[in-house]
Amino acid sequence: MRNFVQNVEYGVYKKEKRLYNEKRGDLMKKLRFGIVGTGTIAHRFAEAIKNVEEAELVAVASRTKENAEKFGDEFDIPVRFDSYEKMAQSDVIDAAYIAVPHSGHITCSCLMMNNKKHVLCEKPMAVNKREAEAMFECAEKNNVFLMEAMWARLVPGTLKMLELVKDGVLGDILAVEGKFCYTMDEDEMDHHVFKVENGGGSLLDVGVYGLNFASWYLGNDIETINAQCSFYKGTDSHMAVLMKYKNDAIADISSATLLRKPNEGFVYGSKGYAYLQRFYAPQEIKIVLNDGTRETIATPYRGNGFEEQISHFCECVTKGLTKSPVVTPEQTLYITEQMDEIRKMTGVKYPQDI
Ligand SMILES: NC(=O)c1ccc[n+]([C@@H]2O[C@H](COP(=O)([O-])OP(=O)(O)OC[C@H]3O[C@@H](n4cnc5c(N)ncnc54)[C@H](OP(=O)(O)O)[C@@H]3O)[C@@H](O)[C@H]2O)c1
Repeated sequence: MRNFVQNVEYGVYKKEKRLYNEKRGDLMKKLRFGIVGTGTIAHRFAEAIKNVEEAELVAVASRTKENAEKFGDEFDIPVRFDSYEKMAQSDVIDAAYIAVPHSGHITCSCLMMNNKKHVLCEKPMAVNKREAEAMFECAEKNNVFLMEAMWARLVPGTLKMLELVKDGVLGDILAVEGKFCYTMDEDEMDHHVFKVENGGGSLLDVGVYGLNFASWYLGNDIETINAQCSFYKGTDSHMAVLMKYKNDAIADISSATLLRKPNEGFVYGSKGYAYLQRFYAPQEIKIVLNDGTRETIATPYRGNGFEEQISHFCECVTKGLTKSPVVTPEQTLYITEQMDEIRKMTGVKYPQDI
């Protein structure tokens, strides 16, 4: 009897030990990423992933062999594909980072997901809500993880701001202001941000940060939205959005592709305000309270700011999740719908809207 019990215990012990080792092995296994596209943001991602020990960059896919080789050489990437399809069909990657213009997000993401690859897709997730919904349906059908690369939601500065607001440091939040307005150089006028067929315009390119920012601190209970925009080749080159919330709070958000403004934001509360340079992903928070207290809190990035989203993505995939509990599909769909509405009221139309 004693032997039997001992054997059973030993069996349980062995099984637990095996499960523990398997789990540990899984946790130690790096998630193998492939990048789709070789432009500006692909470079930033390739830099950041070097600092994330849970992930490794094993492949890059370009529409051309030359670009794939050049990017591969620059970042010492072992596998280079001269087509997105070839990378999707290969078994060298577990996950794909989609870094092509907005109009290509749906095709590239679904191509990867239909080949059972998890997807981190650049912002904005899609050019309109219909496309974003189709993408989340595709993820569900294939049982893979899909997340919009809203890296700003995961950086230390945003987490700290959310904590300060939750702790009531600023009192009740009454208003939010955020400006993300840049101007392109004359030799960049052929960029996809000026092409309606690519989902061009400032709202989708950078206004998406302002709308997320407002939503993080004021919630989603909006009563009315007003918006005005200036145009360049059918795209919004300057968009100004005013949102009134049911609790009487107001958000003032602007974005531009042909107009430079100081890239800054404020969160105003009944007890004082926070000033945030690069408001959506601050590396420093300046608190100014009505009683005269002033404090500056440093919130530096680990590297270039993308590391936290890559780590979060890896953690979700390792846990077997199909959606992020932080950068949720609901939030992505909510903001995409808001952008649809703002475009409708200002007359910004894309061929994909039909
Ligand atoms: N998170 C951020 O901070 C951030 C910052 C900038 C941009 N983004 C987002 O990242 C995405 C890409 O922006 P980007 O600035 O990296 O663009 P980009 O520099 O023009 O690069 C886009 C890449 O996509 C590929 N591509 C596929 N179809 C294309 C087409 N029709 N036109 C042009 N390129 C095409 C090209 O690579 P191959 O030719 O090698 O295939 C190109 O190098 C956008 O959705 C943008 O919103 C995010």
